[in-house]
Amino acid sequence: MSERRKILVTSALPYANGSIHLGHMFETILTDIWVRFQKQRGHDCLYMCADDAHGSGIMLSAEKKGVSPEEHIASIKEEHQRDFAGFYIGFNNYHSTHSEENRFYSELIYNQLKEKGHIARRSIKQAYDPEKQMFLADRYVKGTCPKCKSPDQYGDNCEVCSATYSAMELINPKSVVSGATPIEKESEHLFFKLADFTEFLREWTTAGHIQDSVANKLAEWLKEELREWDITRDAPYFGFEIPGEKDKYFYVWLDAPIGYMASFKQYCEREGVDFDSYWKADSDAELYHFIGKDIIYFHALFWPAMLSASGFRTPTKVCAHGFVTVNGEKMSKSRGTFINAATYLEHLNPEYLRYYYASKISDTIDDIDLNLEDFVAKVNSDLVGKVVNIASRTAKFISKSGGVLAENIHDEALWNKFICAGETIANFYENRELGKAMREIMALADAANEYIAAQAPWAMVKEPGREQEVKEVCSLGVNLFRVLMTYLKPVLPETAKASEAFLNCELNWSTAPEFLGSHAINAFKPLMSRIDMKKVEAVVEASKESTESKPEPQGWLAQEPIAAEIEYGDFAKVDLRVVKIAYAEHVEGADKLLRLTLDLGGETRNVFAGIKNAYQPEELIGKHTVMVANLKPRKMKFGMSEGMVLAAGPGGKELFILEPNEGAEPGMRVM
Ligand code: MSP
Ligand code: ZN
Repeated sequence: MSERRKILVTSALPYANGSIHLGHMFETILTDIWVRFQKQRGHDCLYMCADDAHGSGIMLSAEKKGVSPEEHIASIKEEHQRDFAGFYIGFNNYHSTHSEENRFYSELIYNQLKEKGHIARRSIKQAYDPEKQMFLADRYVKGTCPKCKSPDQYGDNCEVCSATYSAMELINPKSVVSGATPIEKESEHLFFKLADFTEFLREWTTAGHIQDSVANKLAEWLKEELREWDITRDAPYFGFEIPGEKDKYFYVWLDAPIGYMASFKQYCEREGVDFDSYWKADSDAELYHFIGKDIIYFHALFWPAMLSASGFRTPTKVCAHGFVTVNGEKMSKSRGTFINAATYLEHLNPEYLRYYYASKISDTIDDIDLNLEDFVAKVNSDLVGKVVNIASRTAKFISKSGGVLAENIHDEALWNKFICAGETIANFYENRELGKAMREIMALADAANEYIAAQAPWAMVKEPGREQEVKEVCSLGVNLFRVLMTYLKPVLPETAKASEAFLNCELNWSTAPEFLGSHAINAFKPLMSRIDMKKVEAVVEASKESTESKPEPQGWLAQEPIAAEIEYGDFAKVDLRVVKIAYAEHVEGADKLLRLTLDLGGETRNVFAGIKNAYQPEELIGKHTVMVANLKPRKMKFGMSEGMVLAAGPGGKELFILEPNEGAEPGMRVM
């Protein structure tokens, strides 16, 4: 085997803003198989990933959920890691771009770019939401297309007539965030001068670091002058503040790829690995990024330019893949084909999908179709019908004859065919031609099954005196199965593990060519069951349910979704009463609170209410309102608060206490 390579591998960092679906899984499965292959070949291969946690989308989702962005990204990260583990994705480290390591390298790289004169500064005009007080990215402005007059189009292009325009050119533009009419506002932004790297990129993109078809596409972009890249976002934003600037943040795509480094840095600190030996300009380690075709621009232009400008090494290879479609169409929520990883895992074995995807992978950016009928047919025919069948047809005869494999190789030619194929298959793996590797493996499985069918040990065993021959045929059968499972181990890690238990030996590439003779094996247990189409249908059904398009909530419901369902009993526990505000006054030293004396008709309560900015005490006295009367008294800085009054509104000046109609008297229960 060639010398031990040092290989650092990444998958694109999923946004911390939604669940992992089978499209994402294509990428991580592809990467994981490649990494496992390299590890099994004895290389020092490390697999890094992280959640991509920054951006205004994540900030707004957190706000909607009523949690801090940090809480939001923490819960999503947990979910992502659980889903990936469910598919046996073996990251060496999984971090977040919202981390100190990432801040450190983002600032370092930015400062380098700035020092070397690659950062420009100028004012730009953008759409601004005067209500929400934030600048609006194009996807946060909607209005009528200025060209074809189609309503409800996004702020950069029209889905109906494909016209491109700026957000402010829309007719009757509205902020998606608040519904307000955006105004145009100026702000100073920093830009990365990508054009400084035109020559470098022309060379880099044609030096074998990316697939040819991708290089051709990039060549078109590189013919023209490269535009400056806006790396700034104005506050409010969830991200890293740009050093030396006020209220300016790095655009999420600046720190996202740096997240690869940050995740590796965290790994290095934990494991005592030398970070620089992987990232310094003349590193002898290899760096592989696996990405989808939609993010090529960032990985094959900005990223190598940023790295080379700041004195780091550039990627060995950027491996782009196409998009997953289901049954020939874009994944769709209404058809139930927008399938989340978690939904799949509730019904189906992850190795089915690992194998099906592997059988479809090539080193191109062509889209990949997950045809659900083909999925069932292929997995059943290849894995269950061909591979596992070899073991289940032969193992029982070994058990019957004492459980020890024969010394002899019954068919040398067939055995050699299996061993010789090893390097071909390894080359396919190395070049990410997993589909070709799977076809080669299945052709071998066919040959093994033909051999077993021709020998028919089940008939032979009935003929007296042929016991030794039965044992030899079946021992070869078991050995052929062992070689196939070794070749499939990167794709089917769990079945490989179960096979190791059955074969009583470790499956590894370097010992595959050694015939396992005079070796005791264990009783065979079924290794994989057939997929039932009904389970696939259940996945589709469940995907319809979980993502069925509900009407988008409007207004207040959009800002504050309805809380989790409760039992009537929970509600009945809350004792709401009509009260009369007998007295109201300011509280010395409190900037939000008023002290209220509430009359329940026979009992009075002292309550502090955060409504100082909305009401003068005098206006409140004498009013009727509603209170939670059985709330446990709480000791506050200014005294005991013995209940709560009900109010609604966004807060500050706009807060309204609830006023029951006439007829509601102090002490009455509100139900
Ligand atoms: N956060 C960025 C990547 C930053 S990398 C420094 C991002 N995130 S993503 O969640 O939208 O996508 C993560 C990866 O999944 C991308 O490589 C993307 O191409 C891939 N896929 C998302 N949907 C996909 C399919 N339907 N099919 C195949 N891959 C797809 O982009
Ligand atoms: Zn239009």
